[in-house]
Parts: sequence; structure tokens; C-alpha cells
Amino acid sequence: MARAPSPQFACTACGAIHSKWSGRCDACGAWNTIVEEAAGVSAGLSPASRLAGAAKGRPVAITDLSTTETPPPRAASGMAELDRVLGGGLVPASAILLGGDPGIGKSTLLLQAAAAFARRGLSTLYISGEEAAAQVRMRAQRLGLGDAPVRLAAETNLRDILATLEAERPGLVIIDSIQTMWADTVEAAPGSVAQVRAGAQDLVSFAKRRGAAVVLVGHVTKEGQIAGPRVVEHMVDTVLYFEGERGHEFRILRAVKNRFGPSDEIGVFEMTGAGLAEVQNPSALFLSGRGTPSPGSVVFAGIEGTRPVLTEIQALVAPSTLGTPRRTVVGLDGGRLSTILAVLEARCGIPFAGLDVFLNVAGGLRVTEPAADLAVACALLSAREDVTLDADCVVFGEISLSGALRPVGQTENRLKEARKLGFSQAIAPDAAKAVGQDTIRIRTVPDLATLVGEVFGAG
Ligand code: TYD
Ligand code: MG
Repeated sequence: MARAPSPQFACTACGAIHSKWSGRCDACGAWNTIVEEAAGVSAGLSPASRLAGAAKGRPVAITDLSTTETPPPRAASGMAELDRVLGGGLVPASAILLGGDPGIGKSTLLLQAAAAFARRGLSTLYISGEEAAAQVRMRAQRLGLGDAPVRLAAETNLRDILATLEAERPGLVIIDSIQTMWADTVEAAPGSVAQVRAGAQDLVSFAKRRGAAVVLVGHVTKEGQIAGPRVVEHMVDTVLYFEGERGHEFRILRAVKNRFGPSDEIGVFEMTGAGLAEVQNPSALFLSGRGTPSPGSVVFAGIEGTRPVLTEIQALVAPSTLGTPRRTVVGLDGGRLSTILAVLEARCGIPFAGLDVFLNVAGGLRVTEPAADLAVACALLSAREDVTLDADCVVFGEISLSGALRPVGQTENRLKEARKLGFSQAIAPDAAKAVGQDTIRIRTVPDLATLVGEVFGAG
């Protein structure tokens, strides 16, 4: 006789499976996130298929790597920022997860994208589980998309949605959002790990089976994870994040995983009264708010994906009243700041003990490149020593723990972009000299100690 399955417990924050309940998830450290679910549910297996485990499998067809099949053409939307992040357009039979904070503009972006794809002849179905059809229609009208041939449904029942998809066979399906979808075969609340996983699995398998592109919207928790399981990220081909600061109108569409394209590409948009506008020249936008240069302000010549992007890095250094001084970072990695502070102290004798340090990337961009190290160090030194860098100077370079500067990729691209925006000098690692001397005046520094002495007159 088959034993009744014992219960299992899943963390709603990270999706980890536990054999017993506890108040804190060992895997991610979150409190009060563990809930009970029926065994096998989270593995996506129905009780019937688990019992069928005793049946014999059949051999599957095996092929070799040589192929004469040509890849199917991608569908482009004509929205250049979106197409580039997708790696050239939508791939048929693929699944995309679009994550982002509530209210950041995911529905707006996808409605505009749906209209763009539909106008180019792709049969497009937008399924909203969050808003009524009338609401979506009103938004479309406001965005001037009322006449786009997008078909619309407001539904959350997965069984009905899959039946509709099988009948309609659209080329592009947008599910807004995966957290609102609900499968009646799974005994759990909508938005729970089990539901999100089951929903994503069924929709991804529809995409693969019928050659459709399926876009799933996923809300992100405060900690920056797709609410519910990270598991969805593993199930889809492409993971995009839509990010931006609330007070800023810039929005960054960032590919963090892409089986069909580069995974570090960004698209830049601006939220306007008439929806999202593409930003073709992000550097100009990010630097537009820059006033007269002041101590602590440095322009970093960065690369995002295939495109150079100039941003302003700002530092403020002030005496601290706290036993452990403050280290506040926006738009950069806090660990990286600690490393750079440690290198400045150990290799150049510039201590930051007793000083609060605030570091910020202006405009709401998040910079992840190691090439930002030197710009960060310059901003810190500039703030600490009260020395203003020239207004027409850009900075880039990676700092190693020894205090030496390491060359970074795409030096030429960085310098060209800087030149284009009116910058005429750069502070960079030695290797940059060979590349861009005719473009821009380069002041190369072999290591941080030289920078401290020659540029900031300290040390
Ligand atoms: P929305 O796409 O609903 O966000 P999400 O789906 O990620 O939750 O965007 C909502 C915000 O965007 C809302 O605060 C209003 C703003 N917005 C504009 O500023 N202009 C517009 O044209 C639209 C449609 C929305
Ligand atoms: Mg929405």
C-alpha cells in the first residue's frame, strides 16, 4: 500500500525545501517565510506521475551536434532599447522573466512592447491577472496604443489560460503577473512557492511546445529577489530586471541571464506622462544633472553591455560622531567600497577611520563593473582632500589589492564616448596610453600611491 506522502516545507523567499518547519530559513536567513506544502508539489509532480515511477521508461531519440537547421528568425519590436537587451529580438519558443519593484513600470513597458510586436504582425496576447481589461484598455488609450492589434484577457485561472493559449496559439504571450496566477491542481495560495512554480512550469512548457515567446512578470521583494521562488529564474531562458529609483524618471532594463544573447546588456528608458520613452544617449542623460564640479564628484567612463555609459560618481566624507563610522552606498557594491577604503589605507596611508563615507551613483544607475574602482577612489580622495578634479576629466580602471591599477576592457570605446560628450582628459591605468592617445589626453597612473601623490597632492 502506498504511504500517504509526509508533508514538506518550503521557504517562500528562496524556495528551499525543508523537512520540518522552523521560524527561520537556514538557506536564506529569512524569518517567518516557511510554509507547509504537500510533498511532490514543489517538484511539480502530480501524485499520479509519482506513482507511475515504477513503470519502465522508453529510450529517447539521440542525435548528434551537426545540424542543418537554421535558427528561427528573431522578432524585433522596433524599440531599440528593448531589442538590444533581448539580444536582437524575441526568440520563438522561449520564456522570459521580467522582474522589478511594484510600480516601477513593468506593465507599461510590456503593454508598449506588446503593441510594438503586434503592429509588426506577431499575434500577441496580453493576460492581466492584476488589472481589469477596462483598466488595461484605458492605459493603452492614454499611451496612444488603442489601435494596436493586441488581444487582451483578464484572468488568473491557469487551466483556463492554458486552454485559451492552446486554442489561440499566439506568437507572444504576456502574463502579468506570475504571482497572481493560480492552478486549481495545487493546494496553495496564489503567489506561494508551489503556485508560482507550477504556473511558470506550465507556461514555459507551453512556450517550448508551441513555439511561442512567453513573458512572465514577477514582482520583486524588498531584498531584490523575485518574490516567491528564485526557482523561476532557472526555468526561463532569459531574466530581465526593470530597475530605477522612485524619485528618478530613468528606468534601466537589465538582462541578468540570457540564453540567446549577452547577459550584461542594459536598455535605458525615461518614464514620461505618455509612457516609457527610449533614451538613445544615456550618458548625456546621466550627466545632465551635473552642476559645476565640486570635491567628491568624478565622471566614470563605464561600459554597460556593449555600450559605453558615462555616469557621475559622488562621494561625501565627513567626521563621524559614531563609534563605527557610517558607510552608505547607493548604486555600487558596498563590499567594493570597503575594499577600496582598505587599499587606500594600507597601500597609501590614507585612513578613513573616524570618517563617515557616503557614495552615490547619480541618476539611479547601478554600476557593477570593477573598472569603476579608480573612479570611486578618485571620488573618495577628492572629497577627503577637498580637491576638485577638472570638469572635462573622466576616470576608469580596476584597483588590485596591492594598490596597482589593472587595465580594463574596451578602453577605446570608453574614450570615444568621453570625447563625444566633450571630455578632453582621462585618468586611467598605464595600458590605456597605447589605445587612445589621439582621442583624448590620458594621464596614466601605475598605482594608487602615484594617484594620491600626483593628482591629489596627498599621502
Ligand atoms: P506600472 O507599469 O503599472 O508598474 P508595474 O507594472 O511595474 O507595477 O507603472 C506604474 C507607474 O508608472 C505609476 O506610478 C504611474 C507611472 N506611469 C507614468 O508615469 N506614465 C505613464 O504613461 C504610465 C502608464 C504610468
Ligand atoms: Mg503591473
